[in-house]
Amino acid sequence: TYEKIWLGAAMALIVGFIATITYGAVGPGIAMVDDDGGSIDPGEISDHERFGDTGVEHVGGNEYEVTVVAQAWSYSPSEIEVPAGSEVTFYVTSRDVTHSFSVVGTNVNTMVVPGQISEMTVEFDEPGEYGILCNEYCGEGHHTMEGKLTVV
Ligand code: CUA
Repeated sequence: TYEKIWLGAAMALIVGFIATITYGAVGPGIAMVDDDGGSIDPGEISDHERFGDTGVEHVGGNEYEVTVVAQAWSYSPSEIEVPAGSEVTFYVTSRDVTHSFSVVGTNVNTMVVPGQISEMTVEFDEPGEYGILCNEYCGEGHHTMEGKLTVV
């Protein structure tokens, strides 16, 4: 029976590895590495060490961090520019109601919930322009809530 347990454990590891690899490759040029979160008090966004200063930050090598605050009915910043070949980690939160942060044509499509930090890492291999949209109904201006991501 011990053999069966070890065999089972080994199989579980293999399945786990395959699942990890599959999860890591979700589209051409787009690798979803992480989709983790954290918490934040919406009333303290301006004083928050990350969200107090939104925008693009080069953190070394080809790695960039992009901090975005969603709010009815816009994103701050509304325009994002990163170089081709970059690995970008997005941190997004909401100041008011639930929105989404969706980069059209990529697999970036995350809900943005007040009090929570949505985090995801994506690779942008090729230059291009991507629309950013809100896919969660958030009031009368929902359809006007958009931004632009440019890979140069
Ligand atoms: Cu924000 Cu819909």
